[in-house]
Amino acid sequence: MMFLKDFISINHASLPATILAVFLAVLILTKLQARKSTEKRKRYHPIGSTILQQISNFHRLHDFLTDLACNHKTFRLLSFFKTEVYTSDPANVEYILKTNFPNYGKGSYAYNNLTDLLGDGIFVVDGEKWRHQRKFASYEFSTKILRDFSSEVFKTNALKLARVVSEAAASKRSIEIQDLFMKSTLDSVFKVLLGVELDGMCGTSEEGTRFSEAFDTASAMVRYRYVDVFWKIKRFLNIGSEAVLRKCVKDLDEFVYKIIKSKIEQVQNSHTDLLGKKEDVLSRFLELKETNQKYLRDIILSFVIAGKDTTSSTLSWFFYLICKYPDIQEKIAKEVMEATQLGHNSSIEEFATRITEETIDKMQYLHATLTETLRLYPAVPLDGKMCFSDDTLPDGYNVKKGDYVAYLPYAMGRMRFIWGDDAEEFRPERWLDENSRFESESPFKFTAFQAGPRICLGKEFAYRQMKIFCMLLLGYYRFKLSDEKKTVKYRTMLTLAIDGGGCVGLGVVTHDSDGNGLVRNAWMLRLLTVCEAALFSVVVKSHALRVVTFDLFVKATLDSEFKALITWGKVGCYVCNA
Ligand code: HEM
Repeated sequence: MMFLKDFISINHASLPATILAVFLAVLILTKLQARKSTEKRKRYHPIGSTILQQISNFHRLHDFLTDLACNHKTFRLLSFFKTEVYTSDPANVEYILKTNFPNYGKGSYAYNNLTDLLGDGIFVVDGEKWRHQRKFASYEFSTKILRDFSSEVFKTNALKLARVVSEAAASKRSIEIQDLFMKSTLDSVFKVLLGVELDGMCGTSEEGTRFSEAFDTASAMVRYRYVDVFWKIKRFLNIGSEAVLRKCVKDLDEFVYKIIKSKIEQVQNSHTDLLGKKEDVLSRFLELKETNQKYLRDIILSFVIAGKDTTSSTLSWFFYLICKYPDIQEKIAKEVMEATQLGHNSSIEEFATRITEETIDKMQYLHATLTETLRLYPAVPLDGKMCFSDDTLPDGYNVKKGDYVAYLPYAMGRMRFIWGDDAEEFRPERWLDENSRFESESPFKFTAFQAGPRICLGKEFAYRQMKIFCMLLLGYYRFKLSDEKKTVKYRTMLTLAIDGGGCVGLGVVTHDSDGNGLVRNAWMLRLLTVCEAALFSVVVKSHALRVVTFDLFVKATLDSEFKALITWGKVGCYVCNA
């Protein structure tokens, strides 16, 4: 009895606490129940794979993701810390990049990885910071002044590249074309942005060479952070790749700030209106009274990183593909000749003057071939965003706040449901209408330049640069892989570079069979006897190459040196320079 009494009295004393506990328990249970039933209604994309499988397939990451995308247009990849959602569905892509654009951005992950190099540049920020730079830069990138100035810069640099190719042709050397394109596109973007000659191509400026090297190393180091889980510790201790990065950024800053300061001084000291002379982007920014040096530094370096590797890797894949498809190479060369009306005696410099807005616009087949290159080998093969709040994608499945949501340009370029049964074929004609003019596709299907409000700002700039380079090179040379049998692969990085780098990469032979140029070839052709010509045409036929009849061959020989050489070129004499 005593025991029961005690019990009642104790419980009586703590009754309010008990009621509160019961009340809280009921509340929590109800909440949990409610959440469970909402969760029940939520659907998450099928699991395609796990992070461990992704790591083991890292060397072929984009093909691995393509295989998964063949099974599910959108799938999840289970990771230790966050869920990763990958989509190849154009409806989802449109939603992420345009319809619900504010909910998907760079986020803290990309910012933290890239900010040591790019500061608060357009490439790494969201919201107001991004909007301000985008407005500022898109105005500048659409001006005629910039268009004209950049075209001249591209031509100058394409000519420098052509001379390197010419030397290689004369000495029967193969060239590592990706490396040359990287140097050349950096020279171009640097000149257009800062008005300064870097000359990484010829290496005449010591400072310029140091900048190029520091920039390339720094870009590689920030990319490495995406796979190096210890980078923050290394940064804290200033060791290894992080110490290298810090040193490179210091060198880059010194160089860029020096240029910015000297430009500011020029502007302040100039009493006359120098608008006509201010062609580079930096001078134009200063003209608009933007003098925050850190802001200018960040935006300039973001543009350098955005424009350099993307353009050079696209050009490299393009040359690789036209070597694999010589008919396509010939078609483009023919288009160049028709557009420029080039005479066979013209020098390469004269030829460059024929490359104008008008002739570039005539290069519809070239435009289609570059686009087809980007469809299959997009410079940015995978592009991830951070989801800022829980959401439902158009396919009805859910994504959560903090999820990494990526669209897959590489996989999308290979999807039959987007491009038809010949999706994996390299066929530039798919981009031409019945009048053989280029016809664009929805940017949510062809995603190489992203789409929506953050679509690549340099798209038109990049096409113009690539077309000028291709016109000049293909007007003068035929290219052939140095090792036809070698399988070319990509390197898994932020951009889709051809694996190999250094001097192995994509080698292109640019010499004729005995190492001499066009003039020598023409001379040899004139010496061909009628019998040799007839025999020659038989050889051509037996190799199932384009049929060159005896008549056509002689006519071509008589017609003009150039045509003759083109005919000659078709049967395997690789190139010609004038
Ligand atoms: C073939 C060449 C190029 C390709 C395939 C390409 C592709 C892309 C892609 C996919 C993005 C989105 C990246 C992201 O933020 O997630 C992008 C953004 C950007 N691109 Fe390009 N790009 C090329 C050339 C250039 C060039 C030459 C420039 C300028 C010099 C440039 C300037 C930019 C800028 C400033 C952005 C950021 C836009 C923004 O966030 O609002 N790009 N580009």
